[in-house]
Amino acid sequence: MARGPDNAPRWALLAVLAAVGTAMTAAINPGAVARISQKGLDYACQEGTAVLQKDLEKIKIPNYSRKFKIKVLGKGNYSFYSMNVRGFQLPSRQVILVPDVGLKLFIGNASVKISGKWKAQKSFIKTSGNFDLTVEGVSISAGVRVGSDPASGKATVTCSGCSSHISSVGVHIAGSRLGWLIRLFRKQIESSIRNNIQDKICKVVANSVSSKLQPFFQNLPVMAKIDAVAGIDYRLVAPPTATSEYLDGHLKGEFFSWADPMPPPFAPPALEFPAIHDRMVYLGLSEYFFNTAGLVYYEAGALQLTLTDDMIPEKSSFRLTTRFFGTFLPQVAQMFPDMNMQLDVSVSTPPHLSMQSSGLVLTPYLEAETFAILPNSSLASLFLLGLSTNASVRVGAMASRLVGELELDRLLLELKHSNIGPFPVALLQAIMDYAVPTLVLPRVNRKELWGNDWFLVVGDEAGVDHLEVAETPPQWRELEVVTS
Ligand SMILES: *[C@@H]1O[C@H](CO)[C@@H](O)[C@H](O)[C@H]1NC(C)=O
Ligand SMILES: *[C@@H]1O[C@H](CO)[C@@H](O)[C@H](O)[C@H]1NC(C)=O
Ligand SMILES: *[C@@H]1O[C@H](CO)[C@@H](O)[C@H](O)[C@H]1NC(C)=O
Ligand SMILES: *[C@@H]1O[C@H](CO)[C@@H](O)[C@H](O)[C@H]1NC(C)=O
Ligand SMILES: *[C@@H]1O[C@H](CO)[C@@H](O)[C@H](O)[C@H]1NC(C)=O
Repeated sequence: MARGPDNAPRWALLAVLAAVGTAMTAAINPGAVARISQKGLDYACQEGTAVLQKDLEKIKIPNYSRKFKIKVLGKGNYSFYSMNVRGFQLPSRQVILVPDVGLKLFIGNASVKISGKWKAQKSFIKTSGNFDLTVEGVSISAGVRVGSDPASGKATVTCSGCSSHISSVGVHIAGSRLGWLIRLFRKQIESSIRNNIQDKICKVVANSVSSKLQPFFQNLPVMAKIDAVAGIDYRLVAPPTATSEYLDGHLKGEFFSWADPMPPPFAPPALEFPAIHDRMVYLGLSEYFFNTAGLVYYEAGALQLTLTDDMIPEKSSFRLTTRFFGTFLPQVAQMFPDMNMQLDVSVSTPPHLSMQSSGLVLTPYLEAETFAILPNSSLASLFLLGLSTNASVRVGAMASRLVGELELDRLLLELKHSNIGPFPVALLQAIMDYAVPTLVLPRVNRKELWGNDWFLVVGDEAGVDHLEVAETPPQWRELEVVTS
């Protein structure tokens, strides 16, 4: 697809949007919507017609031989042969959206240059030469119907009608002994070549669609591997819909577990995606997308973290040791003198994210269990804390990756269980306010939500606001939450 001169993919003016779902749910609501606007199609059109141009240049023109019989001259015959298309220029190409159908491709003012040889024979006189032929004012109009294959969830494209027209053909025959004679037959050869090319153009267009464009869509994956735990299913759940401004692909947008793929116990909400179309490509994500992610990782036991002292930078004054905790809770240092500690942080219910006009919010409930690591390496549980907070998720595109970042509000602590006797939990507020943002968040943040080359690779012609893979550090462009 779109590659820059150094073969690095160029990124589109991609906008990632979170669409707020409405209350209604239907059977086949998408979890995500991929939108390509007219601007995006204009770019795709330049790329696509470059392929078509190469196919058109491969048009073969058959030999043309005729006999003639002219009163004064008598009988003879002539042939035009070895005709090669030297160039098929497509200066004006345009793709427009046809609501409810798909796309229509218009090519105007195209021109073809052909060169070839001719020979003529009249009784014993033989002569031959070269000729050039220019076909001008070629216009092509072709419909492209977009649909989806319900079995594979892949997009289908078919050519739905094509017409072409040629406004002029001019042959130039280089001088030769019988060149004047051949020029008498100019009209015949021009009209034969015109009909021949006109017949072939639409066949080439239909063939390009069925043998290049359709396989391109057939070869696009509809699942992506995120990591060992989860994949994302983004097959089409319905045929793409076209309006006069954009083409929307309704994607499943669902995380699944590789080990245990199961439909989630909740359905995607009806998405109301606003009619925006200023950028080339949009990716609209619903709560469903994020909540299936939360469920899959939670059920795989991936939402837990074990922290030990050696994971903390040496220069930090915060330590996971009984000596350090002893400054807040003296009984820890008394009961377990000079030992290292372990902190197990886990999420206790599948995180439920909701989209609000302020952003993506969730209220995770965490548990943190602390242990002293005994000299024989076994763990002695000290206490169990419940941590609740309001969190927000920032989602953005970084290079070709969709990345999520969690930000936490104030932590509310609750002592759920203690093996070291009761103590006011407020004594630990400062420790947790430090430990969670500095130790836990960096380990869960900048998690890749969706990395997928083909999906995000649509170049930006103007070269403004585009991202390159090689960029370090990649720019972060944040998801906009839109409400319609
Ligand atoms: C066209 O004519 C040339 C020269 O007469 C000949 O070599 C060639 O085989 C012909 N091609 C076809 C397809 O008949
Ligand atoms: C069509 O192309 C010719 C040259 O090939 C150019 O002179 C002419 O202005 C073009 N017409 C339009 C309408 O673009
Ligand atoms: C003309 O016709 C003769 C006999 O059919 C053939 O041998 C010759 O190649 C033809 N010449 C041209 C220039 O087509
Ligand atoms: C480790 O030591 C503690 C106390 O010193 C003891 O209770 C525990 O059984 C020991 N564990 C193992 C696996 O030896
Ligand atoms: C989360 O926000 C709500 C509403 O602002 C508030 O009532 C609640 O106490 C907050 N919870 C925490 C854990 O901060």
